[in-house]
Amino acid sequence: MASGCKIGPSILNSDLASLGAECLRMLDSGADYLHLDAPCSSGRSVFWIFLTQGSNPGLSALQADALTSEPPGKAQHFVPNITFGHPVVESLRKQLGQDPFFDMHMMVSRPEQWVKPMAVAGANQYTFHLEATDNPGALIKDIRENGMKVGLAIKPGTSVEYLAPWANQIDMALVMTVEPGFGGQKFMEDMMPKVHWLRTQFPSLDIEVDGGVGPDTIHKCAEAGANMIVSGSAIMRSEDPRSVINLLRNVCSEAAQKRSLDR
Ligand code: DX5
Ligand code: ZN
Repeated sequence: MASGCKIGPSILNSDLASLGAECLRMLDSGADYLHLDAPCSSGRSVFWIFLTQGSNPGLSALQADALTSEPPGKAQHFVPNITFGHPVVESLRKQLGQDPFFDMHMMVSRPEQWVKPMAVAGANQYTFHLEATDNPGALIKDIRENGMKVGLAIKPGTSVEYLAPWANQIDMALVMTVEPGFGGQKFMEDMMPKVHWLRTQFPSLDIEVDGGVGPDTIHKCAEAGANMIVSGSAIMRSEDPRSVINLLRNVCSEAAQKRSLDR
């Protein structure tokens, strides 16, 4: 089985001038881990541009799959902006101590270049995008050699079948439920077949969803089989983040329990 249901607030939409305090507020509210989006700039604007292939949120996952004829990683480029980079992670690690688990969501071009700096800064997991590299195998190896867990993310327009060959080598698959870039976007329910397919094929894999996840959409994610739940605005903007975190975890755990009974 996957490692239980965990909730990781994304602090992308928080007051970045008070990043340490915001992280502490999340941990004090019961967060299981912190999902740190890099790069991000101040507030909502993130300069991460996918130059060759967009995706159509109106397509089903299967339709999107059919349209994805080129393997990810080929001739696809990201515009790097690492304003929230390893120096910030290092500061957060110093302030928050060794315990909190940092899941780095690396929305960068050439993710290879930040592995060592992020490891040294205190990241626990390095989650990179399949679309951003031509050599996932070497990157996975490098992340492990630097003592971090491996997360592998796919954008909405990327077929889950491209992720499958790597699933036994990674710790976590991240199925994006919005176009990566900024918080507060609408949840793409048509990504759920990807989550469901992964859960069926890889029962013990940690599967994370990220984008538009909150009390209104958690049921879909939980039923599909996600067990690592990133939630940004739904938690950050709540006056009672603890109750939102608890609700997300409970819905997720109940679905996982039901799945194991149904087997
Ligand atoms: C989006 C980021 C997310 C984002 C989630 O590109 O990867 O982690 O902060 O925020 P919400 O939950 O508001 O969509
Ligand atoms: Zn993210």
